Amino acid sequence: MGLYTTVMGGITEYTGLSPAAFFTILAMMAVVYKLVCGMFVAAGDYVAVKKANAYALREPVQLGENVTEEQLRAYDGSDPEKPLLMAIKGRIYDVSRSRMFYGPGGPYALFAGRDASRALALMSFDPKDLTGNIEGLSASELDVLQDWEYKFMEKYVKVGQLVGAERNQIETEPTENGDKIQEAKHIEENGTQQLPTSE
Ligand code: HEM
Repeated sequence: MGLYTTVMGGITEYTGLSPAAFFTILAMMAVVYKLVCGMFVAAGDYVAVKKANAYALREPVQLGENVTEEQLRAYDGSDPEKPLLMAIKGRIYDVSRSRMFYGPGGPYALFAGRDASRALALMSFDPKDLTGNIEGLSASELDVLQDWEYKFMEKYVKVGQLVGAERNQIETEPTENGDKIQEAKHIEENGTQQLPTSE
């Protein structure tokens, strides 16, 4: 307890910041550092990275409706021959085009090969939140998760469904914007955004 108080007091004394502000800035710096590092590659890794990036240009492969969590793990980027996959609410997306984010060494590599619903809803990097279990989340946390889902639906191709995961959750999610639901459905069904209707 004494050490904890001394460290927290030291942070405020030396930086003039509250411990919360200090650690938030530290986390932001870590993410930016990882992003910048991801932009550069060692000469020896160049061929491997080029090969891995080639997946971004390939047609995504559909895995079907009964993918297990264990099968999904194999797509975490450790095998450069495989695409990078990530799931939200049981829906699996091919995120290979964002290898910079989700590939090995990337700031969000921990999400690859997983259903990261809980971590995204809570904006958490804690390994215990790397799960598709969204029980007990508040309405605002579910809204955060919903926004992530819309982003993924728009940006990535859905390539499968985790077995046992609840389907059609969109209809049940709390949201104040009905248009967003229509838009998300349209993206899922057609793979494109709805064009604005002419007046
Ligand atoms: C700590 C401060 C953070 C900073 C400075 C930061 C910064 C960024 C930046 C610059 C991007 C790229 C945006 C784009 O080009 O679309 C990004 C993407 C992303 N961030 Fe963060 N982030 C932070 C925290 C978090 C947290 C806490 C989470 C979730 C636990 C998170 C999850 C993501 C994900 C999943 C993407 C990629 C989305 C995609 O695939 O397009 N970030 N972040």
